[in-house]
Formats: sequence, structure tokens, C-alpha cells
Amino acid sequence: MNHPCVAIVGATGAVGVEMLLCLEQRNFPVGKLKLLASARSAGKRMKFRGEEVVVEELTHDSFGDVDIALFSAGGGISKEFAPSAAAAGAVVIDNSSAFRMDADVPLVVPEINGAEAKNPPRNIIANPNCTTIISLMALAPLHEAFGLRSIIASTYQAVSGSGAQGIIELEEQMKALANGQPVSLKVYPRQIAFNVIPQVDVFTDNGYTKEELKMLHEGRKIMGLDDLRVSCTCVRVPVFRSHSVSITAQFEKPVDVDAARAAYTGKPGVQVVDNPAEKEFPVPLDTTGKDDCLVGRIRKNLVFSNALDLWVVGDQVRKGAALNAVQIAEIL
Ligand SMILES: NC(=O)c1ccc[n+]([C@@H]2O[C@H](COP(=O)([O-])OP(=O)(O)OC[C@H]3O[C@@H](n4cnc5c(N)ncnc54)[C@H](OP(=O)(O)O)[C@@H]3O)[C@@H](O)[C@H]2O)c1
Repeated sequence: MNHPCVAIVGATGAVGVEMLLCLEQRNFPVGKLKLLASARSAGKRMKFRGEEVVVEELTHDSFGDVDIALFSAGGGISKEFAPSAAAAGAVVIDNSSAFRMDADVPLVVPEINGAEAKNPPRNIIANPNCTTIISLMALAPLHEAFGLRSIIASTYQAVSGSGAQGIIELEEQMKALANGQPVSLKVYPRQIAFNVIPQVDVFTDNGYTKEELKMLHEGRKIMGLDDLRVSCTCVRVPVFRSHSVSITAQFEKPVDVDAARAAYTGKPGVQVVDNPAEKEFPVPLDTTGKDDCLVGRIRKNLVFSNALDLWVVGDQVRKGAALNAVQIAEIL
């Protein structure tokens, strides 16, 4: 069989650039590569396997020869263009939230429910929310061991989660403050430099943000747990890359810390780093540019029965987006 023609929609963005890197680093068998973005980027050149590829403007006719289309240009673009790609015969792997909760669109973390990526009914597969992927990478092995019932989580989300503009905003605010200048706000509702902001995405009627509810709805769908209960507070922090999540998880069965650590043995994509006495716990700088999520600070929760507290860190541009999408493409 010929190697597939792969398109990246949003190739010039934070996730698109990482997708290119993942395809290259993982030696994905790319026959032809199409890099698509807005008219602003048309003509720009990007490198893949030592060769320059020219970025083209995305149109509805971009997908005639495409077998796999990796979308990462935002929900609006996915809603408008993914159906054209699917109709042209490409399998779409979409990073936005546009189709995640559609019943006939698989929502896939390959290590957890990879089999669902096969034969997608609408030719569309959704990549889950980045924080949800990272949290579930830590929770799925514990679910196998003890049976997951509920999650209470607080997130510490990096600015690259808001794309290239989030990175620029933190850089510019840090420079302005260092020079005694006022900061300007474009991406975030409050100053992000030397601050934390308890808002990621927009607020909904029940006081939670959309991002916080993704952990609930997407978590249930991926884990196949309709009764999973989740309460989450999502916080933006002045970290460039890698999200961290503090999780209290309650289980059906009694828990044990040693058994919890052992549950990760042999599980791909997640490692335990948990020796606080030796200052060994995961921090965002440890996972930046890396594939694996790291779990530490595993302990018995002192409030709830059958509950564990843990801390998980993962590169959200990579495992939370680009790598997960390329892993789905590998299943295809
Ligand atoms: N960043 C993360 O950690 C992360 C994690 C998980 C999921 N995601 C999702 O991935 C998607 C992309 O995020 P990002 O962080 O990579 O954003 P980004 O850095 O802002 O990049 C956006 C990309 O979309 C392209 N684009 C914008 N408008 C377009 C248009 N009208 N036609 C064609 N292309 C257009 C941009 O092209 P130009 O350069 O030409 O403007 C750019 O390539 C979003 O849906 C986001 O929610 C992001």
C-alpha cells in the first residue's frame, strides 16, 4: 500500500508545528504532506525531514488527494472544513471541541480506548481536551486497579494551551514589567505574568467554565463511565508549556499507595516519579517536549474513603494534542 497523503490544517500554529515534529520523530509513513493555514501564512515555508514544504491556504478543495487530515485550527474552522475533508475521503483527526461529544464521533486516547478509532462512521475522530487527556493518563491505570467513581481536580495550565498568542502575551508582559512599563491584555482577562487566573475558557450558567465541564463530559465518554462524577477548577498559570493537575480520585475498592504505584507498571505513556524526600516529583519543565505524562505525590486522601491524591504533569501541546493525534493516525 502507498504511504498516505497527510494534511495538517493549522500547520503554522502551536499544535500544528508540534504535529509536524511528531510525524517526523515517530517516522510516520508520510507519502505526501500538505500544510494548510490561513491566507496570512500561504507561501510560508516549513521544514519536514530536511525538505521545505510550502504552506497553502485552506479551502474546501484542499482535500482531494488527502488520506489523513489532522485539524488544529480551532473549532470554527473544523466545523466548516472537516466535513469537506471527510466527504473527499480523508479521515479527519480533529483537535478542536467541535465534534467531541457527537455520539457518532469516537473520542480517543490511544492508550485507553484506541480500538474505537477504527472505522469511524463519519470519517471523523476527535482528539480530547488536553487537560482531560493528561488527567486520564494518570487515572486509567488506577481505574483498572480500583474502579474510578469520582474526581475532584484543580489544574495549572500553561499559556501555550492558548496557542501562539498565549505565549506571546506572557513574554510581552514579562518584558514590560521588567522595564517598568504597563502590561497590555489581549488573550487573558487579567495579567498572567507573576499571577494566576482562575478562568480557562468561558463561564457557563452553573458557574463552571467550559474547560472545567470538558473533564466531566469527555472523561465519561472516553472511560465509558456514564456515572463518573467530576468537579474541576481550571487555572491558567505563568508557565510556558505543560499542564499540571492536582487530583483527588475516589474509587469503588479500598486503595493502597503501593498498589497504586504498581498499577502503572508496564503502562505506556505514563511514568511514576514519586520520591518527595529526594525532591522527586514531576514539574512542568520535566515533561516539556516529552511524550510521557508523569505522576507523583500519590497518597491516601485524609478526607474521603477509598480515595487517592495525586499530581500529574504532561506536555499539553504534545500528549494533550499533537502526539495523541499522530498516535490515532498510527492506529489507522
Ligand atoms: N495549544 C494547545 O495546547 C492545544 C491543546 C489541545 C488542543 N488544542 C486545539 O488545537 C487547535 C489549535 O490550537 P493552537 O494552540 O495550535 O492555536 P494557534 O497557535 O493559535 O494556531 C492556530 C492555527 O490555525 C490557523 N488558522 C487560523 N485561522 C484560520 C483560517 N481562517 N483558515 C485556516 N487556518 C487558520 C492558523 O494559521 P495562521 O498562522 O495562518 O493564522 C494557525 O496555524 C485549537 O482548536 C485548540 O483548541 C490546542
